Amino acid sequence: MLSEYNPYLEYREGELYLEGLPLKGLAEELGTPLYVYSSSYIRDRIRAYKEAFPGALICYAVKANFNPHIIALAKEEGAGADIVSGGELYASLLAGIEPSKIVYAGVGKTLREVEYALESDILMFNVESYMELDVLNQVAGKLGKKARVAIRVNPDVDPKTHPYISTGMKKSKFGVDIKEAMREYRYAGSLKNLKVVGIHCHIGSQILDVSPYIEATQKVVDLYNQLIKEGFNIEYINLGGGLGIKYKPDQSNPEPKDLAEAILPELKGVNARLVLEPGRSIVGNAGVLLTQVQFLKDKGHKHFVIVDAGMNDLVRPAMYQAYHHVLPVIKSDRAHVKVDLVGPICETGDFLALDRELPIMERGDYLAVLSVGAYGFAMSSQYNLRPRACEVLVEKGYHRVIREREEYSHIFDVVPPLKG
Ligand code: LLP
Repeated sequence: MLSEYNPYLEYREGELYLEGLPLKGLAEELGTPLYVYSSSYIRDRIRAYKEAFPGALICYAVKANFNPHIIALAKEEGAGADIVSGGELYASLLAGIEPSKIVYAGVGKTLREVEYALESDILMFNVESYMELDVLNQVAGKLGKKARVAIRVNPDVDPKTHPYISTGMKKSKFGVDIKEAMREYRYAGSLKNLKVVGIHCHIGSQILDVSPYIEATQKVVDLYNQLIKEGFNIEYINLGGGLGIKYKPDQSNPEPKDLAEAILPELKGVNARLVLEPGRSIVGNAGVLLTQVQFLKDKGHKHFVIVDAGMNDLVRPAMYQAYHHVLPVIKSDRAHVKVDLVGPICETGDFLALDRELPIMERGDYLAVLSVGAYGFAMSSQYNLRPRACEVLVEKGYHRVIREREEYSHIFDVVPPLKG
């Protein structure tokens, strides 16, 4: 059912609407490809996290969708930000997120980024290696600051998701092996410009079954107990993000309360504030990508529908063979056929959907690709020199452009080539 993706997405008299706005009208007004996001959905999801986890700090994972207007919505609902770069720090501050609600992860923070985050006085750094502890300690000393740190531990739990988005297994580059963590904590505790305040762990993304969270939480709580015993003052336990969403019609959209039921009992007796870093489960099903049919091509055994959105706009199908549900913006009673929905990019991997049953399309028809609010625009590029798409936020029947469609002149805002 459509409402299981997003309760604000519906057909009214055969026309697809998002939060009270007809999508065909938006596509005609603003052109395609067009990302459209529903504000109320985003607000509802943050509220659902806050209700399920009273007292926790919900740090929206900016990497999922870094548009400052989206981050500002999260801020209005009381969320902080989980960032992985100086750019994401900039966007979060621009959106008004309080530095005291910003947590910073990432295996390769640069000197400049570390300085920027220290000067901004963020809540904490999620540190991933000994070397990073040293660098952070040095930079903090130079700036006359004390850096608050959590160590990102890798609990070696299989989140049963796509291998590219599993992060908590032994073989991944992320975090410190949980068995080694005590040594690393002792080392961090010996560095005079660091203040150890937390434990961080993130096992992966698009996790539909909450049992791996239980296992990871148990391991983190064991570590917490050891740290307390050794006299560390652990104020925060950060269990990362990763809750999955409905992409396929037969999947369900797990709720924050399902996650809470799984992990809160494990945290009984822990006297630290819980931090969570949800991204996809906040914005994923808030967004649709509108695209227009350009050409139809019949190769006998294969029918191709060529649309104006390509892998530069939405790379998930090409990169992870991800499934995104596709709907006609105007319902029709035409017969259904199996097609490959492909983009205009010069790559065989440039597809949005393969072997998909869709009503017979005509040139000019509009399609909506669902579940693209997270890792959609954020992973888009200008490959084949295609300007990036326009983004629109709708709220209760009104819309606001939150990123203009890129012009060629924006793309060429670069250092001019040397002449002669
Ligand atoms: N915290 C950390 C440390 C992370 O690495 C991530 C995601 C999150 C939080 C947020 O996870 P979420 O709640 O959104 O699952 N591009 C991929 C997803 C990569 C996720 C990377 N890390 C995709 O399109 O599926």
